[in-house]
Amino acid sequence: MHPYLLLQQLLIIILVFLSGVPKSLGADDERYLNCSQSFDCASIESIGYPFWGSNRPDYCGFPEFKLNCSGDAPSISIQEQEFRVLSINQSQSSFTVARADYWNTVCPASLTNTTTIDNSSVLEFASDVQQLSIFYSCPPLNIPLPPQLTSQFNCTINSTTDSINYYVTKDLDIFGLSNISSTFGTCSTTVRVRVSQSAASNLALNTSKENLGAALDSGFNLTWDASNTLCKQCQGSGGQCGYNTSSSEFTCYCKDGPNPSDCRVLRIFYLAGK
Ligand SMILES: *[C@@H]1O[C@H](CO)[C@@H](O)[C@H](O)[C@H]1NC(C)=O
Ligand SMILES: *[C@@H]1O[C@H](CO)[C@@H](O)[C@H](O)[C@H]1NC(C)=O
Ligand SMILES: *[C@@H]1O[C@H](CO)[C@@H](O)[C@H](O)[C@H]1NC(C)=O
Ligand SMILES: *[C@@H]1O[C@H](CO)[C@@H](O)[C@H](O)[C@H]1NC(C)=O
Ligand SMILES: *[C@@H]1O[C@H](CO)[C@@H](O)[C@H](O)[C@H]1NC(C)=O
Ligand SMILES: *[C@@H]1O[C@H](CO)[C@@H](O)[C@H](O)[C@H]1NC(C)=O
Ligand SMILES: *[C@@H]1O[C@H](CO)[C@@H](O)[C@H](O)[C@H]1NC(C)=O
Ligand SMILES: *[C@@H]1O[C@H](CO)[C@@H](O)[C@H](O)[C@H]1NC(C)=O
Ligand SMILES: *[C@@H]1O[C@H](CO)[C@@H](O)[C@H](O)[C@H]1NC(C)=O
Ligand SMILES: *[C@@H]1O[C@H](CO)[C@@H](O)[C@H](O)[C@H]1NC(C)=O
Ligand SMILES: *[C@@H]1O[C@H](CO)[C@@H](O)[C@H](O)[C@H]1NC(C)=O
Repeated sequence: MHPYLLLQQLLIIILVFLSGVPKSLGADDERYLNCSQSFDCASIESIGYPFWGSNRPDYCGFPEFKLNCSGDAPSISIQEQEFRVLSINQSQSSFTVARADYWNTVCPASLTNTTTIDNSSVLEFASDVQQLSIFYSCPPLNIPLPPQLTSQFNCTINSTTDSINYYVTKDLDIFGLSNISSTFGTCSTTVRVRVSQSAASNLALNTSKENLGAALDSGFNLTWDASNTLCKQCQGSGGQCGYNTSSSEFTCYCKDGPNPSDCRVLRIFYLAGK
């Protein structure tokens, strides 16, 4: 055969495969179909990859992104801590969460720090997230504290009588660390929570207990990287992003079945291998 003809044929074959004709004609892969459905979860609609839960199967998202849809808002468990999901921005790969135990209260029954998520490979705090320190059950303090940075509030926890508590809106360093530890070190519990920069700034204008609650309820942003680059490639080639629950890796569901990253490239390799 003339080499030019051969080249032309090869090009046509590649073009045909590039245009998405399946390897074997037949019904589309069921996982591809199932993962192409976004889902509604409690108060949030049209949620997609990397989230799953309710009737969206686990292979359509990363394990960390399981949503519980049975409450009035979706909830997510991050390193064994429950968060309300307030909003999800798929295009920015970010979502807003608030501590479930601090929802509508600044005096939860059990006092725990917000998880640092520092051993998560997929989640990160957004760049504007800052820490706020809350000190519970303090004795009367003997030094004057800057009122625009600290505030005192009462809590009735476990039906015990009012306890004196403080919170500090900025990094503790501004007081000088030795002073802080000697001042708040006498409180029985320190809790470190996360708020957005703008909530912390608002709080500095009015440090009331109500505003502390509002800052916590407005939540903070987390960003994700659930193989985002592979997912873009996958979607660009007409696939649905997903997760291989046996190999614990990203997978791309194509109409004709799963591939590691992409629905097109592999077919060219497939051809080349023939
Ligand atoms: C796809 O979703 C349908 C309907 O929810 C379900 O019956 C079916 O088992 C799912 N298929 C797979 C492979 O999980
Ligand atoms: C899901 O959320 C509901 C309501 O918030 C809660 O009662 C339930 O325990 C949660 N389920 C799981 C498995 O965490
Ligand atoms: C995070 O790392 C700590 C130790 O560094 C470990 O105790 C904890 O179980 C880890 N959490 C998760 C969710 O892997
Ligand atoms: C996601 O964030 C971008 C940039 O902030 C914004 O333009 C877009 O409207 C947001 N999408 C949703 C669904 O909130
Ligand atoms: C309140 O009681 C619960 C259960 O008895 C306990 O786990 C928790 O630590 C108590 N909270 C405080 C702040 O003492
Ligand atoms: C919260 O973290 C701080 C600093 O790491 C620690 O001193 C404190 O004991 C923690 N609080 C709780 C309730 O675990
Ligand atoms: C806390 O409670 C005490 C006594 O119950 C009260 O005198 C004080 O004004 C309260 N403080 C605040 C900030 O509400
Ligand atoms: C620590 O507190 C003492 C008074 O108790 C004050 O004189 C000193 O300036 C404080 N140090 C810093 C670094 O704020
Ligand atoms: C601070 O906010 C509370 C309500 O959150 C309000 O009652 C109070 O008047 C405000 N204080 C100032 C000084 O604006
Ligand atoms: C989360 O990020 C979005 C932009 O993507 C921003 O509009 C929103 O105010 C942020 N929310 C919080 C609580 O930081
Ligand atoms: C998951 O990975 C295993 C091992 O790499 C592979 O045999 C299997 O076909 C993959 N399944 C999916 C759904 O990607």
